[in-house]
Amino acid sequence: MTNPVVLITGGLTGIGRAAAVAFARKGAKVVVAGRRDEAGRALAKELRSFGSEAEFINADVRKEDDVRALVDKTVAKFGRLDVAVNNAGTEGQVGPITDQTAESYAATFDTNVLGVILSMKHEVRVMQEQGSGSIINISSTYGHEGAQGASVYVGSKHAVEGITKSVALEIANAGIRVNVVAPGPTDTGMLTRFTGTPENKAALVTTVPMGRLGLTEELADAIVFLASDEASFITGHVLNVDGGKSR
Ligand SMILES: NC(=O)c1ccc[n+]([C@@H]2O[C@H](COP(=O)([O-])OP(=O)(O)OC[C@H]3O[C@@H](n4cnc5c(N)ncnc54)[C@H](OP(=O)(O)O)[C@@H]3O)[C@@H](O)[C@H]2O)c1
Repeated sequence: MTNPVVLITGGLTGIGRAAAVAFARKGAKVVVAGRRDEAGRALAKELRSFGSEAEFINADVRKEDDVRALVDKTVAKFGRLDVAVNNAGTEGQVGPITDQTAESYAATFDTNVLGVILSMKHEVRVMQEQGSGSIINISSTYGHEGAQGASVYVGSKHAVEGITKSVALEIANAGIRVNVVAPGPTDTGMLTRFTGTPENKAALVTTVPMGRLGLTEELADAIVFLASDEASFITGHVLNVDGGKSR
């Protein structure tokens, strides 16, 4: 597909930002969504400098009105929606189960799970009318493995993988593919917040068979592949991009 229309939630930093740059460099029309207007407008300007059409739209994925408007504004601007990358996520409040509360659960699940559900609801609405589309949800190695002290985040990412596989089945014969990219430890602000100290970050690196952190550009390459026609018979799949960590 030439010049697809691509929507990326949580697209202003880290993996989402790298994906926006990668799609823009390939000539896609890119909508980056996020919660900070100034940073969003600056990123859209940067993306346009690659010769791509790009827009920033403010959207908090926990709010259905925001998500509905995000999808509708994307279609109003570019006429269709070919690729959606549901990337917005939070590490929430990392810590033992005895420290968790209804509030810490909601602070994690409202973005990581409800956000993905609301995003897919409105993306699929448009893609069904078109009869085509590709959705990529971002889970984690922790979407299929456990992690000490991160039960709520781990649970939210397990949910993303289960929901993805179910929705993929639901719409497989509608010409819409739904897949997951599952990053291993990747060098972003989230990883720095998640690990808390340089020592913890270094310890996490030792758990990666390839012995290093992933780069946001490496995650972006996997997202671009799954979105592309080269992946046209792949749906309901979890693509681990984690230096061998999932096994
Ligand atoms: N880095 C890793 O090691 C790693 C590993 C496995 C999975 N992941 C997943 O990869 C995805 C991207 O994370 P990242 O590592 O690139 O970290 P990041 O730089 O912190 O990116 C997360 C983005 O999501 C946005 N966001 C958070 N809550 C939101 C909400 N309610 N509505 C809209 N946007 C929201 C953040 O925007 P604000 O600036 O407004 O908060 C931020 O731009 C996440 O789903 C994460 O769980 C990351």
